[in-house]
Amino acid sequence: MLKNDQLEQWDRENFFHPSTHLAQFARGELPQRVVTGGSGVHIEDREGNRLLDAFAGLYCVNVGYGRQDIAEAIAKQARELAYYHSYVGHGTEASITLSKMILDRAPAHMSKVYFGQSGSDANETNIKLVWYYNNVLGRPEKKKIISRWRGYHGSGLMTGSLTGLEAFQKAFDLPLDRVIHTEAPYYFRRADGAMNEEAFSADCAQKLEALIQAEGPDTIAAFIGEPVLGTGGLVPPPKGYWEAIQAVLTKYDILLIADEVVTGFGRLGTMFGSAHYDLKPDLITIAKGLTSAYAPLSGSIVSERMWKVLEQGTDEMGPIGHGWTYSAHPIGAAAGVANLKLIDELDLVTNAGEMGTYFKAAMTRALGDHPKVGDVRGEGLMLAVELVEDKADRVLFDASKKVGYAVVAELLKRNVISRAMPQGDILGFAPPLCITKEEVDTVVSATAESVKAVLG
Ligand SMILES: Cc1ncc(COP(=O)(O)O)c(C=O)c1O
Repeated sequence: MLKNDQLEQWDRENFFHPSTHLAQFARGELPQRVVTGGSGVHIEDREGNRLLDAFAGLYCVNVGYGRQDIAEAIAKQARELAYYHSYVGHGTEASITLSKMILDRAPAHMSKVYFGQSGSDANETNIKLVWYYNNVLGRPEKKKIISRWRGYHGSGLMTGSLTGLEAFQKAFDLPLDRVIHTEAPYYFRRADGAMNEEAFSADCAQKLEALIQAEGPDTIAAFIGEPVLGTGGLVPPPKGYWEAIQAVLTKYDILLIADEVVTGFGRLGTMFGSAHYDLKPDLITIAKGLTSAYAPLSGSIVSERMWKVLEQGTDEMGPIGHGWTYSAHPIGAAAGVANLKLIDELDLVTNAGEMGTYFKAAMTRALGDHPKVGDVRGEGLMLAVELVEDKADRVLFDASKKVGYAVVAELLKRNVISRAMPQGDILGFAPPLCITKEEVDTVVSATAESVKAVLG
């Protein structure tokens, strides 16, 4: 096939890329990559490069690239029925089957699934459901949502407010009212170096309780958190964290939203992060791994306790005033059904757990003693290497040095994609769940070489 030699120019002239330095891109100072194909853990671009994608796109292509079973399911659905809406009791075989498959895998106390398109819109739905719930229960003041600094919950108006990262808020007049933030469960960055993990978790819970009391418990509706912090730095919770946090939430009758957009469907070596950390959420957000990004689809899984109140609300007020044109889109649902089947057939949840353990041990062996590596941490197939100026005192590099970006650029020269996490010099890894030992070894040796190339 003839190569369109205008494509790069069209790209710079016409395409608004998300999360991109727009001016640098337009001036041609940022590299472009036109991705053309993929298979397993690799992608290919139109310059003929073949790259090992150790971040699975945006930690979403969980079954790996090029899965024909999912492509066939999408094509079949598109031929038979590309679209019908799901309002007022309509559905398709795919959407009904998928909701059953999700609930078969979710914690037992979950009851129903509402479908959206993205993680962001699923979290918007969740916040509306929380507010509706408290209105039905006659608690119109109980509406504030507590999120954590460094949490990531999307980049819409409400979800960008929940997200606790400066770049997503500062220039957009966010956060909105009704959103407040509490301490991140980031043990490595603790202020008091002498504190052990349990003490740090207790401290996070105490800070949460103090915030609730200061705001007034009757004004706090819900707490949202990722079982493992993702975009904020790939940070597993310290020991005892979720137990301590949930005790506070129960005490003040505050709902828990587990944002499992990244951790849902196997990434931690368990089907859900909620099961992994013994969470009892009232709502679970799912997206990414639900279809392995073969089609856009997300969901809000609603607990039985909330569902009963939603039903009561419609008896009192009529049909629930919430829905998107593309809710439960049949093509997304067909992709989801094929994807969940494949995860089971290939036993990818087990593989994620085993490869995660192997990956962390290998990375720790390769880089744990490096004087500029402060922390190698991870859970399942979420792994981070945090770079520091001074290891003993955990002194961070000056952000302007962009050390993390430099190491990621070196990795790219070695045909490995990792992600420079947006706040800190943190190398992020979250490969497809089908990764093999040999592929993990390739990532680890390329990372060790790249760290040495930049930091000696
Ligand atoms: C935990 C979490 N929640 C929500 C989102 C938002 O999902 P989306 O980008 O599909 O809107 C993301 C995206 O990375 C995420 O990591």
